[in-house]
Amino acid sequence: MREGTATVIRREDYAAPAYWIRSVELTFDLDPVKTLVTNRMQVERNPHATTQTLRLDGEDLNLLRVLVNGESVSFRVENQQLVLENLPAESFTLELRNTCSPEKNTQLSGLYTSSGGFFTQCEAQGFRRITYFLDRPDVMAVYTVTLKADRAKYPVLLSNGNLVEQGPLDNGKHYAKWHDPFPKPSYLFALVAAKLVCREQKIRAASGREHLLQVYVRAGDLDKTEHAMHSLIASVAWDERRFGLSLDLDRFMIVAVSDFNMGAMENKGLNIFNTKYVLANPATATDVDHAGIESVVGHEYFHNWTGNRVTCRDWFQLSLKEGLTVFRDQEFSQDLAGTPSARAVKRIDDVRTLRQHQFPEDAGPMAHPVRPDSYLAIDNFYTATVYDKGAEVVRMMQTLVGRDGFARGMTLYFERHDGQAVTCDDFAQAIADANPGSALAHKLEQFKRWYSQAGTPRVAARGLYNAEMRTYTLELSQHCPPTPGQSEKQPFVIPVALGLVGRNAQPLPLQLVGENAPAGTERVLVLSEAAQRFEFTGIEVEPVPSLLRGFSAPVILEDTLSDADLLTLLAHDADPFNRWEAGQRLALNRLLAAIKGDGVLQLDGAYVDAMRAVIRHPALDAAFKELVLTLPGESYIAEQLEEVDPQRIHAVRESMRLQLAHALHAEWEWAYEVHQDQGGYSPDPVSTGRRALVSLSLAYLCLAAAEKQVPLWPGKAYQRFKDAGNMTDRLGALSALVGAHSELAAPALERFHAMFRDEALVVDKWFALQATAPEKGGRVFARVKTLMSHPDFSLRNPNRARSLVTALCFSNPAAFHRTDAAGYVFWAERVLELDAINPQLAARLARAMDRWKQLAEPYRSAAREAIARVAAKGELSDDVREIVTRALA
Ligand code: PHE
Ligand code: ZN
Repeated sequence: MREGTATVIRREDYAAPAYWIRSVELTFDLDPVKTLVTNRMQVERNPHATTQTLRLDGEDLNLLRVLVNGESVSFRVENQQLVLENLPAESFTLELRNTCSPEKNTQLSGLYTSSGGFFTQCEAQGFRRITYFLDRPDVMAVYTVTLKADRAKYPVLLSNGNLVEQGPLDNGKHYAKWHDPFPKPSYLFALVAAKLVCREQKIRAASGREHLLQVYVRAGDLDKTEHAMHSLIASVAWDERRFGLSLDLDRFMIVAVSDFNMGAMENKGLNIFNTKYVLANPATATDVDHAGIESVVGHEYFHNWTGNRVTCRDWFQLSLKEGLTVFRDQEFSQDLAGTPSARAVKRIDDVRTLRQHQFPEDAGPMAHPVRPDSYLAIDNFYTATVYDKGAEVVRMMQTLVGRDGFARGMTLYFERHDGQAVTCDDFAQAIADANPGSALAHKLEQFKRWYSQAGTPRVAARGLYNAEMRTYTLELSQHCPPTPGQSEKQPFVIPVALGLVGRNAQPLPLQLVGENAPAGTERVLVLSEAAQRFEFTGIEVEPVPSLLRGFSAPVILEDTLSDADLLTLLAHDADPFNRWEAGQRLALNRLLAAIKGDGVLQLDGAYVDAMRAVIRHPALDAAFKELVLTLPGESYIAEQLEEVDPQRIHAVRESMRLQLAHALHAEWEWAYEVHQDQGGYSPDPVSTGRRALVSLSLAYLCLAAAEKQVPLWPGKAYQRFKDAGNMTDRLGALSALVGAHSELAAPALERFHAMFRDEALVVDKWFALQATAPEKGGRVFARVKTLMSHPDFSLRNPNRARSLVTALCFSNPAAFHRTDAAGYVFWAERVLELDAINPQLAARLARAMDRWKQLAEPYRSAAREAIARVAAKGELSDDVREIVTRALA
């Protein structure tokens, strides 16, 4: 148990460190029980500092020796810090020796063991769990690292940068020495010592420079590394092409590890990845997994510039690297997708993620600005807000200055700040300065409210057509609800991309009063006041406004579009995002009416006909159709309500699914037949979309069959499950059976487990599928409890814990929110159990209760009680304490 120190850290308290560490030589004698670390630092006093006391951070360390310029000195350890006073005036060598215990490190922060190897994770504050250091990102040092370990057990010894020496040692040991020429903060340090194999490839970059790319995995996994390698090669090429940024190292390594708290980590030259984001072949990984690997490999690679070459001054600036790098990986995947339609599919996917995770966060007790003001545990701020809303903020900058203008801004950013640790202000300033005439430059200070104000702004839109004058007046207004600690908000700068669609389906030319000519049929308005009007002239027919195209700002749009308007947009909008959005809103309107009304949903002909037209549409891509035909999720529906009854939402949504299954039966059959795979597996957007539509169709067909007790489609699904040539189809068929509560689900699940029992990532899918099955009479919850004692289950492996516990609590509202409160009791027990093992993971799970205040009774009182029970526990980590305290505030 790591008991908290409970000190709130505030952004306004930032002060430069009293000392700089310019270089460091680390030597590791690696042993799972007790690893010896020798740490020799070149330290320099910061002449501007107000104190001369040196305080080095350390956690769970055993300190053996402290030498200054080779002499022992007096020191003390206080509040997890090594404190040194009376130090030499300018620069000196500080040598420390300490030990740590990698095998006892279940938090997976610092140096730990996994499957018999050594791995590190240092972001945000793991380095202090390896040795005493100024563990803060504005202290950048050049690292030289020597690793010593048993040669047979740990044949591969890796660290950042270049390998400069290696060789045998006595007693069956060997060593390797690495040097990283780039000064870096401690959070980017990494080492690996393990029995691994690697796929490697030499590439010649556009610059002409040769690089060695390596992907390290366990011996049995080499056949699952091709996609990651391809993704890495594509990433290198993309960053050169789009931003002129090349790889600055001779060697770039990716290492996969099966125990990892997050997705992956961008350590300089030595990225360490959760196996989930490396390993894939058609038999074990789905299309979604392949897409995840592409974007995470890209993400970590892009950090080499946005994060590593230019890093964060302090952790409040986290979005400087994360928001920007998420934006970059999203753009990368869109560019790789190619066609406008495939790009839109990726955009829709990203917006769905934002709405599913970030919008609720911004409306709940953990709401915080993209650049937070304070924290108790920094690990709690690796959030959807910092990452995904942060990416939207960068995207809005690009929208305001244009693609080329944004690329110019990036160039200026690196010209100014390469090698520095900087702030979000520095980034925004560079983008604005490179585009002096832009709306961003004119309104920069106001634009930066996106960094300082939390909450999702609401934009209300009202249009008025004047047939006589041929004018269309658009009134836009904004307001942002209060969030914890911020009761009043100032107006944001909101880019609103729009088009006007004529009732005859034509895009109308957009000319504002006072302009001499129309500026095309799509443009970006900038809403920066609380309310503004825009008057368009020469509008020959009454239009339907298509607002916020491509989701041009992370806001909630409140417009007055009728069903007829939405049907027009669904059929004719030139913007695929808004076309999809119109379909979702049509579904949502029906769902919400039934949920708020008598709980009965009777599907109307207009909606069914519109959906039929989408399925049968000759020009739309299968991927896009699948997105339109997937109903909004239960938690997204919940976000639209003042008071939430999860059981009622589930019942209404299930009833709508069932009606769609019946009403469009012929269409589902047709779609299932005509989109079958031809030929071998490839995870490209077109075949991915076809498979997704086939799986959705099969799910609806099984659902309809279950109700009528006809075994045909479940039988076909079982057959498909057995014979599938790839994991996407196999899992699709299996989940169709599970989702329809078919009798064939149980034997299929059993067979699936038997086939893949040795593939950890597939076993995760097996758990997750059962934990997210549509609840029916409490069976799913009961099954999850049984699965907790399955021999393959363990809370110690984060992927496994997430596959069952997180999946239930976050992704299965109807199984989790029970009138008997058993779900909440289960949650509280797991949070406490996990907190003793891995506080970061426990705190993530704790957030399943974020939105408890929105719940109807009896859920609400029971939820509060469960949270209070956790909060009352004496020895909580800072991580969990921060979450439950905020939840109860
Ligand atoms: N910096 C990592 C990323 O987003 C995420 C991460 C944070 C990983 C903290 C581990 C620990 O790429
Ligand atoms: Zn990142």
